[in-house]
Amino acid sequence: MSQSLTALLKNYRAQQRCLAGFNINDIYDLHAVALAANELDLPFMAMTYPPVTQLNTTRLCRKMVDGFEHIANNKIYLHLDHSTSVDLCKQAIDDGYDSVMIDGSHQSLKENIAMTRAVVDYARSANVTVEAEIGKIMGRDVVVKSEDDYLASVADVVSLYQEAGPDIMAVGIGTAHGFTTSAPKIHFKRLQEIANAVACPLVLHGGTGIADEDIQKAIKMGIAKINIGTIVHSTYMRETHKEISKDIANAYPPLIMQEVLPRVQAVVLDRLKAVNKHLVK
Ligand code: 13P
Repeated sequence: MSQSLTALLKNYRAQQRCLAGFNINDIYDLHAVALAANELDLPFMAMTYPPVTQLNTTRLCRKMVDGFEHIANNKIYLHLDHSTSVDLCKQAIDDGYDSVMIDGSHQSLKENIAMTRAVVDYARSANVTVEAEIGKIMGRDVVVKSEDDYLASVADVVSLYQEAGPDIMAVGIGTAHGFTTSAPKIHFKRLQEIANAVACPLVLHGGTGIADEDIQKAIKMGIAKINIGTIVHSTYMRETHKEISKDIANAYPPLIMQEVLPRVQAVVLDRLKAVNKHLVK
């Protein structure tokens, strides 16, 4: 199953296409993403951050995504996002995730290679796709002082790729997680150098703040997966708050979600269109 995810992403890189991954938290935002993906008849990746799996278990997340088989028209690939723990990656692999990310980007290159290698070795027999990270994605608690702190060096990318063997690689090229005060300056020159140096599909993080034209430019250079999170969960939380505040004493979850879900769906559809310009008339 996941062998086909790696194959799909390789094909996407060759065809200059890109799979959208959305950070999801529960059945409601997953439902909204699935309905939006149906509108464009696309597969997508449902990505759980470690706090989601810690609260709910990777097993339940797997079952939740399985439960959407009759709702989604295309495949949903379940992915563990930004795990800094090798053990959590192994747990997700055991519980049937299609893909895991081991994020050793805050460690030394040597330690990053060792962590990534450990997950790659474990994932092989289960045919699970492994994403590694090199360089840093800014935003949240990641403080950088200079370009050297976040920009992935081509030599380091090649070392991690050759010595650890991940299937796909997230590279720090100037994007940031979450909302930013100004559009991030993406280092396209470095992205091109990295794409020339490694054949694997590349991953762009921080999808919320990236301009549509930059998304398209990055896809043409080898980005085959993009991660989108904050715009989805912040819409979900804001719109839920808005609805609950109208009559807190009588707030009833299914009725609230009936209002909120289409609004999250609209935001997801907008991002799917930005990623899949070829499908937009
Ligand atoms: P945003 O929250 O900026 O969309 O980034 C998501 C992400 O990169 C998850 O790995």
